[in-house]
Amino acid sequence: MREQILILDFGSQYTQLIARRVRELSVYCEIQPCTRNWREITGAHTKGVILSGGPSSVYENGSPSVDPALFESDFPILGICYGMQLMTHLLGGKVGPYPKREFGRARVEIDDPVGIFLGSQGDETVWMSHGDTIEEPPPGYRALARSEGSPVAAMMSEDGRRYGIQFHPEVAHTPRGKEILHNFVHRICGCAGDWTMRSFIEEAVERIRVQVGPRRVVCGLSGGVDSSVTAMLVKEAIGERLTCIFVDNGLLRKNEAEQVVETFGDRLNLVHADASGEFLSALRGVTHPEAKRKRIGEIFIRVFEREAGRLGDVKFLAQGTLYPDVIESISFKGPSATIKSHHNVGGLPKWMRLALIEPLRELFKDEVREAGEELGLPREMLWRHPFPGPGLAVRVLGEVTEKRVKTLQEADAIFIETLRKHDHYYKVWQAFAVLLPVNTVGVMGDARTYENALALRAVTSQDGMTADWARLPADLLAEVSSRIINEVRGVNRVVYDVSTKPPGTIEWERVESKESQAINPIGKEEITFSFSSPTGFCRYPGWRFSRRSLLRRRAGKPRI
Ligand code: XMP
Repeated sequence: MREQILILDFGSQYTQLIARRVRELSVYCEIQPCTRNWREITGAHTKGVILSGGPSSVYENGSPSVDPALFESDFPILGICYGMQLMTHLLGGKVGPYPKREFGRARVEIDDPVGIFLGSQGDETVWMSHGDTIEEPPPGYRALARSEGSPVAAMMSEDGRRYGIQFHPEVAHTPRGKEILHNFVHRICGCAGDWTMRSFIEEAVERIRVQVGPRRVVCGLSGGVDSSVTAMLVKEAIGERLTCIFVDNGLLRKNEAEQVVETFGDRLNLVHADASGEFLSALRGVTHPEAKRKRIGEIFIRVFEREAGRLGDVKFLAQGTLYPDVIESISFKGPSATIKSHHNVGGLPKWMRLALIEPLRELFKDEVREAGEELGLPREMLWRHPFPGPGLAVRVLGEVTEKRVKTLQEADAIFIETLRKHDHYYKVWQAFAVLLPVNTVGVMGDARTYENALALRAVTSQDGMTADWARLPADLLAEVSSRIINEVRGVNRVVYDVSTKPPGTIEWERVESKESQAINPIGKEEITFSFSSPTGFCRYPGWRFSRRSLLRRRAGKPRI
């Protein structure tokens, strides 16, 4: 088994970041809820343990803890923020509410640059976010650093194998955080650093080979990063026994369907299911955002089921589940959310009766892109802006018709082309056009027009959870607006969206009702993100309907 660092999660918003930083150091690591028995999740391959931060105080009733026997084991341990406070509390040191809480940037003075501080110049800028603080290290530990709000900003055990730090080395605001983590995982834990994308791909391919044996696999391919990399990995493992189904819903960006077929037609066994007519007729007369999404979900499943049914005896479904989905469903934050989200996000509906292959379960998005590059996928495809599963249907406000989709595709293509031309495409998180159900008056030549208004949206963001509108140059916007009004029939006015998220959202249409949230109760954000799994038809709200239709079919009734 490959060497790894275990991260025990105490509910910090930064836990995933710790994992990403450790992996950037070429060391594999896994996050586990602090409620797990550490003995069951460690072994000879575990080189060290990191205790994450968390929002609690060790003095709160029911605050999260860990079996103190962990500290009698041989593992090197690094406690970060709450992790450090817990360590101190359990080992007999003194944690107290210090009069000066520390939030944000702070300076720490390193009194002794040893262990994790090796190479430090004695004074560091760090990111703090804590109320409680360490007043006295536990017996056998000594202070290594202090700050204005923390008399013990860092501590070390006498044998140099256990550390606590009050600040967050994993965030970008702690400039030398990476060196601190490097010292811990490489020097203290002795990790060799053998986690590379190549090694991951080799292991994943071998695992798929063993799991699948001589049988066949189906994969839903959307042309998005996750499904494409999944498909290429499975292909590498079992070759022609993988069939990919590309459900073309007619709601993709301009020329996108052709690009998917062009990119993958020769690389994969690809079924191009052109179902645009089916999708468009299901959307006729539908204007409510939620109703649109449901129809799209239903048709997707219907088409996928039909195409998969034609393949004969298929035993597995390959799906592009990523590590953040997995962590989300095992997270320690509230057992009820954990259980529900697991049912809704993690599992396939039983009726599918296909075993799942999820080769990307261990990867973060940027690692998936790296794997894609190793597998020879075009960079342009791997770094494209995110695109919602229901496609342009959520950007044609009001009724979705073929003509309106075409109008939007043309305008959107001009926007994206101009961003690329002026080197702004990769500077924004996402950019697109939205066709509004509003007609405005204009003048063209001598005639007055009464045509559609169109909005442009471009946002900067780290992860899509919060976003700011992109400050695009006025000249660029002028060029886009002028080209759209001149070249796209039916649009006579272009506006630029200057709302932030929150309180706005990135897309203009979204699911809001209680019913939809109950379908995926882990929160609105996850609803939208989980949809983006192209293969994840179990994630569409519509799967319930499909399940119902299947039950009806089993009972000999016609499908509805
Ligand atoms: P919002 O609009 O919620 O979007 O701020 C956040 C991110 O999620 C994408 N998004 C979706 N993705 N199905 C998807 O697959 C959806 O229904 C959906 N709605 C929003 C959005 O494009 C942005 O990247």
